Amino acid sequence: MRLENKKIIITGGGSGIGRAAALRFSREGADMVIADINLDSGEETVHLVEKNGGNAVFHHTDVTIPEEVEQLVNRTVSLYGTLDVMINNAGITQKENKIHNVPIHEWKKVVDVCLDGVFYGMKYAIPVMMKNGSGSIINTSSVAGIKGQKLLGAYTAAKSGVIAITKSTALEYGKYNIRVNAIAPGIIDTEIVSEWRNAEKWPLMSTANALRRIGQPEEVANACLFLASDEASFVTGTTLVVDGGTLLGK
Ligand SMILES: NC(=O)c1ccc[n+]([C@@H]2O[C@H](COP(=O)([O-])OP(=O)(O)OC[C@H]3O[C@@H](n4cnc5c(N)ncnc54)[C@H](O)[C@@H]3O)[C@@H](O)[C@H]2O)c1
Repeated sequence: MRLENKKIIITGGGSGIGRAAALRFSREGADMVIADINLDSGEETVHLVEKNGGNAVFHHTDVTIPEEVEQLVNRTVSLYGTLDVMINNAGITQKENKIHNVPIHEWKKVVDVCLDGVFYGMKYAIPVMMKNGSGSIINTSSVAGIKGQKLLGAYTAAKSGVIAITKSTALEYGKYNIRVNAIAPGIIDTEIVSEWRNAEKWPLMSTANALRRIGQPEEVANACLFLASDEASFVTGTTLVVDGGTLLGK
């Protein structure tokens, strides 16, 4: 099994990519803590993991509150003895708006969840990993954070920031054998894109890539599995793009 005995936190594990990762990991021997702001969906993920023969518990967490993220890490260590893999995946999007129309509170909220949340996750996971002499951190960015995307200025800024802090952190902790990578999904079939589903541009938007189809959360989960596992032992500071070729255009 590719994650045998690995102790793993997945933030945003109640839905979409985070849930798909939990289900994929449940077949690979991982012991997980599913963290989400949504209690019902987080508990449902745990139920599905257990049905799959895996092991997980739910820990209610708002990643924008540093004390809650610290408690999440502490709970994981008291449950499982340590923490091997931290997946900072919780995220929200924003209403489409030109930058001068983006409400300030919305900018702050998006950056808080998508960037500050990643910072807190790394801040509290890293001391445990330093003690272990190993660890893998996976931060969820987006192709929007690489290429830029009109009308999504706050989201784009936060996701670019995730790539930047991933590289800096990889440099800082490589000597402790802690690997820090990001994933950059293209458009993936999850809740976060639900607002766009009824838009006129959706059929074009969801197929604007070389493979000409929307991605599935399981396809991103497979990339997370690689980065979480020891198979990625010489991979750090990188952003693994899982976008069906979106960055190439169409
Ligand atoms: N789906 C896509 O097209 C796509 C593309 C690129 C990047 N992403 C990124 O992938 C990640 C996962 O998104 P998804 O597509 O699975 O969407 P999703 O909406 O299905 O899942 C996001 C999860 O994050 C949780 N969450 C939101 N705010 C939180 C908070 N403050 N604290 C804790 N949990 C919180 C939600 O409750 C939800 O369970 C996000 O970071 C998102 O930005 C998604």
